[in-house]
Amino acid sequence: MERNSSGSGINKNKQMVEQLQQYGVFSSKKVAEVMETVDRALFVADGTPAYVDSPMAIGYNATVSAPHMHATCLQLLEQNLQPGMRALDVGSGTGYLTACFAIMVGSQGRAIGVEHIPELVASSIKNIEKSAAAPLLKEGSLSVHVGDGREGWPEHAPYDAIHVGAAAPEIPQPLIDQLKPGGRMVIPVGKMFQDLNVVDKNLDGSVSIRSEISVRYVPLTSRDAQLKGY
Ligand SMILES: C[S@@+](CC[C@H](N)C(=O)[O-])C[C@H]1O[C@@H](n2cnc3c(N)ncnc32)[C@H](O)[C@@H]1O
Repeated sequence: MERNSSGSGINKNKQMVEQLQQYGVFSSKKVAEVMETVDRALFVADGTPAYVDSPMAIGYNATVSAPHMHATCLQLLEQNLQPGMRALDVGSGTGYLTACFAIMVGSQGRAIGVEHIPELVASSIKNIEKSAAAPLLKEGSLSVHVGDGREGWPEHAPYDAIHVGAAAPEIPQPLIDQLKPGGRMVIPVGKMFQDLNVVDKNLDGSVSIRSEISVRYVPLTSRDAQLKGY
């Protein structure tokens, strides 16, 4: 399989995005554009079937989310990923969505990934360096940090968009606090049974929460619990 941005790899990536649209997973042109620009194969190990619509193990009891979940979350957050806005990606894993967020908010915006496994942070930075988001990483509008994402990343708060890539037993208060009025957070919530919650902070600071779909994510937990297999 081609893994660079030329040749059949990028065509297979485009086909994957087109299929997701045909299956009705998403309809946004902006989301199609960014997913076509960021080649998923650059974010998974050699030999991994990068374009199959399924989550895949990336080590450390973590997974890269399935393309349909990436597309769903990007579409839910699209209005909060306009040029110049700020986005936080909690549990950034491979860095795929952080790269998409960075491209959508552009060099005047800010995209921050927070991941608690240092090895995944290091490999995600290497992945991003190979991708279309590399210039944004170089100039500093995209960065990935080692940290407990349950605490958010206060340094660049408040955020227009927060994405959480692992299921929380309940929505962490620091993440609500770091959401801008008018901002939106997408977060899987639950243990055995999980819902993808859409959390909108209204302009008066109140919060509205709705459930979008049932999902299955790895838990948002401590590093020790994750490395021990939860
Ligand atoms: C489904 S995986 C990766 C999702 C990422 N969007 C991707 O597709 O590559 C969820 C990630 O959350 C991380 N994680 C779990 N609990 C965390 C925490 N408390 N703080 C930061 N990262 C956490 C895991 O290590 C894992 O990489």
